[in-house]
Amino acid sequence: MSEAALLGVRAMYDRDAEAYQSLRAQWLRRATARAMAGLPLAAAALVLDVACGTGTGLEDLRNLAPHAQVLGLDVSVQMLKRAAASCRVVQADAAALPIRAGVVDALVCSFALMHLTSPRAAIAEFARVSRRGATVALTTWAPDVPWPARSAVMRILDDLGAPNVASSHHGGPETDSAAKLARLLVVAGFEGVTTHSEPLPTEPIEAETALRAWSSLGSTRARVAALETSDRDEFFRRALASLAGATPAELSDPREVIYAWARRTGAPAGIR
Ligand SMILES: C[S@@+](CC[C@H](N)C(=O)[O-])C[C@H]1O[C@@H](n2cnc3c(N)ncnc32)[C@H](O)[C@@H]1O
Repeated sequence: MSEAALLGVRAMYDRDAEAYQSLRAQWLRRATARAMAGLPLAAAALVLDVACGTGTGLEDLRNLAPHAQVLGLDVSVQMLKRAAASCRVVQADAAALPIRAGVVDALVCSFALMHLTSPRAAIAEFARVSRRGATVALTTWAPDVPWPARSAVMRILDDLGAPNVASSHHGGPETDSAAKLARLLVVAGFEGVTTHSEPLPTEPIEAETALRAWSSLGSTRARVAALETSDRDEFFRRALASLAGATPAELSDPREVIYAWARRTGAPAGIR
């Protein structure tokens, strides 16, 4: 089951990589940069971006950690292809990193824990690879909140009979609050946990761009793709009409981002 879930998430990001890079990565970048700003990176020698996606975080890490080897890891080859322009990258599951114990100075994992079948196993893996004194920064999503503009568009898909698609947020329920993230970090052996939650920093967005992003990514893309061509045309016509007059604030993702930072003070298992 968890292997199937992992393969499903990987296939989704392999399919979405181009759209993710052009329509999504920059939106999340400021939140990830905020998380990175909480890490002491100036003297770091080895820094990981786990679930690095298309590599926006890697570009920022290279500037923030000028003396470090920065390594990006992700399960999706198509996402990594785009990240490879920034840094060295490796295909890997967050819960089974191909890294020796106790060698990493800092680790970032941004907007990925919600996809994992076991965020607990991944955070334990982050502790395993961390040296004594290493720091980690995590970001993930708080639970969904009402988003009327988007819900109206989803109702059009329902009306047109688009099939429902299972959520890829397998690990959402384990990671969707600051308290849950803090607990997972402490259980894994991290200390000095600090957390913060605030809405995603956003820029003004237009209806067409919002609709293009929603319909090009994730489960909504799959629902739209399942429609007959004529129904798909009908969907875009009705969706744009329903969004006409929506303000940029109404079109922006209203969910909060949860940030967590922590330090590995003990020795990793197996290291003295
Ligand atoms: C929303 S994207 C975030 C990418 C990047 N961190 C960013 O902020 O732009 C989620 C990423 O997690 C990766 N991912 C999902 N499950 C993973 C796993 N088990 N191990 C490693 N990467 C995973 C996906 O392939 C995708 O690139």
